[in-house]
Amino acid sequence: MESIWSESIEISRRKPLPGDMEVPAVVIGAGIAGILTAYYLSQKGIRTVVLEADRIGSGQTKNTTAKITSQHNQVYSWLIRAFGHQMAEHYASANEAAIEEYERLVRDKGIDCDFCRCPAYLYSQIETESLKREADAAESLGIKASFGTECELPFPVAGVTRFDHQARFHPLKFLAGMAEEVEVYEQTKVLKVDGRRVETASGTVTAEHIVFAAHYPFINVPGYYFARMHQERSYVVALEGAVRPKGMYLGIDQGGLSFRTCGDLLLLGGGGHRTGVNQGNMAGTGCRYELLRNRSREIYPECHEISRWSAQDCMTLDGLPYIGRFSKRRPNWYVATGFGKWGMTTAMVAARILTTLISGRDCPEADIFSPSRHVTVQAMKGLLVHGAYTVKGLTKHLLPMGKGRIVPNCPHMGCRLEWNPEEESYDCPCHGSRFDKEGHLVDGPAQTDCKKQEE
Ligand code: FES
Repeated sequence: MESIWSESIEISRRKPLPGDMEVPAVVIGAGIAGILTAYYLSQKGIRTVVLEADRIGSGQTKNTTAKITSQHNQVYSWLIRAFGHQMAEHYASANEAAIEEYERLVRDKGIDCDFCRCPAYLYSQIETESLKREADAAESLGIKASFGTECELPFPVAGVTRFDHQARFHPLKFLAGMAEEVEVYEQTKVLKVDGRRVETASGTVTAEHIVFAAHYPFINVPGYYFARMHQERSYVVALEGAVRPKGMYLGIDQGGLSFRTCGDLLLLGGGGHRTGVNQGNMAGTGCRYELLRNRSREIYPECHEISRWSAQDCMTLDGLPYIGRFSKRRPNWYVATGFGKWGMTTAMVAARILTTLISGRDCPEADIFSPSRHVTVQAMKGLLVHGAYTVKGLTKHLLPMGKGRIVPNCPHMGCRLEWNPEEESYDCPCHGSRFDKEGHLVDGPAQTDCKKQEE
């Protein structure tokens, strides 16, 4: 099922790349990060083209809950401990500035995208200490944050961390407005990147600067992003007849839910899990949507569901995005990936940082987002967990499997795919590639469809 965003706007089509061209900069991927990066570069006088394998906004932008917030779970208390106050301040100020910048663009360009300021809350039903700590940490970094015990949710909470002056919007209406000012070629899948050359089936773009902004970098070496990111799925139901809070909420307890009003609807999110692992009722956990529906009926007995959809997010080892130079071995390549659950704000952060770097100016705020930032204890733990999943996925393909005609090994690096009964897809537990029941590619980093077994 399509998200409410996809169902409410049709973005005008663009032509495929007409042939070879040479430009100063090329961006791969026409989601919000790619379009904004191209827009800002063009504003600097750097002609930039965007290559999109499918349609503008056809990736994860259309599946977000579209919260624009600097509140990224309980990141600030951890950031100060792991990276120090100054780098934590860079993270906070970059994200706060991103919200301001969205507002400025919407206002200056008159984009009708339901942009609205509202507070964002973290809530817990069982504890208060970490919420207080997070509020104090955020406030020390310049964010207007506070701890409290009152909130609008229709069940008791122990406490909340409130961030003021956050925002929400319609992501595809915003994207459509911004894309009008950007040179985009759709249905132009990148097949290979080599030095300054970006090869597609319809021509080669030669560029001084190459930006990878297509969710998950599909180049394995250099960069090795496959070794330091996995993907997670999460689920949303759009409810009519539910009480709609003014603020946006995210639960920090096990099984905590996300709440966000959109017009007459309430968007209720949750049920996140690593892609390819513990999927739907195969794992005996019940369908993810059914779990959300049950919770929504408990909380809002009068509500009914009008839409549902799922999202796929790239998760890094330490939970912070990778924004900056792709690899020391490719100084003219740049990357924006690993946005976790905070794709909207991070897309803007990425666009501003990459534009600054490509323009050749200093960007002190880039340090905390750099793909080559120092490895924390948390990242080391993430590496071990990710490595264990990868080893398991790679060795499991030795087991016999005879379902259908699809070879059940991922064309990315060979991990055994898992059947996802709820979404009728084959999902890879190693790095999160997904394929429909016919084996056609749905999500990367794989670049090709599954192979078919010999008849
Ligand atoms: Fe990497 Fe499947 S996504 S092996």
